[in-house]
Amino acid sequence: MIDSVFDQNYLRDPHQVYAHLRQRSPVARTATSQAVKVWLITRFEDVRAAMTDPRISKAFADHPEVFKANELEGGDSRGAAAVAPDNMLFSDPPDHARLRRIVVKAFTAGRIRALRPRIEQISASLLDALPPDEFDLLKDYAVPLPAMVIGVLLGVPEPDWPRMIRLSSTTIEGSARDPKAVLAAAEETLAYLTDLCAAKRADPADDLISAMVHVHDEDGRISDVELVSTSWLLLVAGHETTVHLIGNGMRALLGHPDQLARLRAAAGLLPDAIEEFLRYDGPISTATFRYTTEPVTIGGVDIPAGQLILVSLLSANRDAGQYDDPDRFDITRKPAQHVAFGHGIHYCLGAPLARVEGEIAFRQLLERFPALELAVPADRLAWREGMLMHGLTALPVRTRPATDG
Ligand code: HEM
Repeated sequence: MIDSVFDQNYLRDPHQVYAHLRQRSPVARTATSQAVKVWLITRFEDVRAAMTDPRISKAFADHPEVFKANELEGGDSRGAAAVAPDNMLFSDPPDHARLRRIVVKAFTAGRIRALRPRIEQISASLLDALPPDEFDLLKDYAVPLPAMVIGVLLGVPEPDWPRMIRLSSTTIEGSARDPKAVLAAAEETLAYLTDLCAAKRADPADDLISAMVHVHDEDGRISDVELVSTSWLLLVAGHETTVHLIGNGMRALLGHPDQLARLRAAAGLLPDAIEEFLRYDGPISTATFRYTTEPVTIGGVDIPAGQLILVSLLSANRDAGQYDDPDRFDITRKPAQHVAFGHGIHYCLGAPLARVEGEIAFRQLLERFPALELAVPADRLAWREGMLMHGLTALPVRTRPATDG
């Protein structure tokens, strides 16, 4: 019998569970909430070592038996990777480099720069539509903003955005409790994107999918299936993550009025503050599954071949071996080496866009609401279920005008 550390205690306070593991069992044998056996790695240096070890693979497409072999009774290890495995996130070299290159060529710094005014406009229109006194900063702002930005980036027609938001949320959210819903959503998204890629080929526009189709036609080294799977990855990887950068960062600020005041007084601190939001409560708890292709030793623990590995980014970012007083939230800390965007060859491809979105979101929120505060006691805020994402279920806030009393 292997207990899961992803239990009610984890849901209440993941940091406490991770602090305990880092101290007592930094490479722990445990199970996911879906009864799949894993090795959970929680210390900063071990996490980085596992993420760069060539004997630890992410390519599951040809090895579904690795998942099966690690299921406990009644366990269900199927995830979205089962439906859309043909992209960089679920590949090893040399396929990984081939699949990543096509996006790198199309997702240029110029494309991100050009998106900036659109993001500012979308953010401002969401803020304009908010109720005047109280709202859920997640549902009413942090969820739609990145979804709409991904819609613009990929070239998804605006009438399809609500459907896209629903599918992407189910793919990620459902992974906590309902594997069937995840598969159904991933399949529907793939079918939708297959049609969209065909439409972009027939009638290219100024968007990322059209640019990828162009590179694909020139390069000819990535298949149509891989192209669709890559578009799917961009859609799901770029949405929920950015939602929780905004939500978790805002929760940290509202819970630390001294830090909020410092940021309001010196807007130039914002880029550093965003890195601290990512370190202190990053959007991803454990990175996506990996597995050992050979026996490895991590943090002094021998792990046989064919085992599933989870690395905790949330935990690594609070490792006292890496940061002074890691549980202190300090927007001037400059945490250059956090792993919120991952590490090694799978380092987040969308990090520059996520940073731009974060910068615009926080700047506009703080400017628009000079006296924003939590509308519920902080201990009423709840973390969502699941071990992939680390984000809140809701973030109710009140907007008291600064002139109020
Ligand atoms: C704050 C927001 C974000 C965070 C915290 C984040 C985090 C991550 C992490 C941790 C990984 C590596 C996962 C692993 O190794 O298992 C990753 C990969 C990836 N991310 Fe992000 N991400 C964010 C936003 C975005 C955005 C906006 C996009 C695109 C529009 C994006 C696209 C990708 C892609 C394509 C990969 C796969 C890279 C590869 O396998 O080579 N991400 N991200």
